[in-house]
Amino acid sequence: MELVARDADDMRAIGKSIAAHVEAGSLIMLSGPLGAGKTTFVQGLADGLGVTGRVTSPTFVISHVHRGNPDLVHVDAYRLENLDDVDALDLDTSLDESVTVIEWGKGKTDGLSDDRLEIDIVRSTGADTGEEPEDLLDDSPRTLTIRGTGVKSRALVEKLGS
Ligand SMILES: Nc1ncnc2c1ncn2[C@@H]1O[C@H](COP(=O)(O)OP(=O)(O)O)[C@@H](O)[C@H]1O
Ligand SMILES: [Mg+2]
Repeated sequence: MELVARDADDMRAIGKSIAAHVEAGSLIMLSGPLGAGKTTFVQGLADGLGVTGRVTSPTFVISHVHRGNPDLVHVDAYRLENLDDVDALDLDTSLDESVTVIEWGKGKTDGLSDDRLEIDIVRSTGADTGEEPEDLLDDSPRTLTIRGTGVKSRALVEKLGS
């Protein structure tokens, strides 16, 4: 299914609405270029889960754990080069008791679970959207394509669409 986030607040609201449908063991993988709004989505998800701590991009530390019930594990896989790097994070040990959300995980962290919510975020391009890096920060629509692999995530997508 597709959703449009008109601005950053809208993106947070979408993240928050999805938080209502996830539980310990859920895995969400976010794709999309730098500035697409992946971390902004996670801010809304975290708000909806009521976890502690401000959500920032974990690019340099790779992973943040926000305590809550369940915990939110927020990973940026951008710097992970291979499956050994992924293994070293030991995400499979926290997966069952946490909600795990991974930026840039495609092709790297898919093996963590057969049941994943995969969200691809694209930023519209066009004459009025600007092409300079700083323009990325301006509010402009993002399109989210949401796909579930596995029974639980497919059911989640159905609920979002209804
Ligand atoms: N529709 C939108 N959805 C999400 N973020 C948006 C939107 N419009 C503008 N923005 C801005 O774009 C930036 C997205 O940054 P961020 O969420 O860190 O991206 P990423 O994690 O994908 O690199 C933020 O500054 C946010 O305010
Ligand atoms: Mg980010």
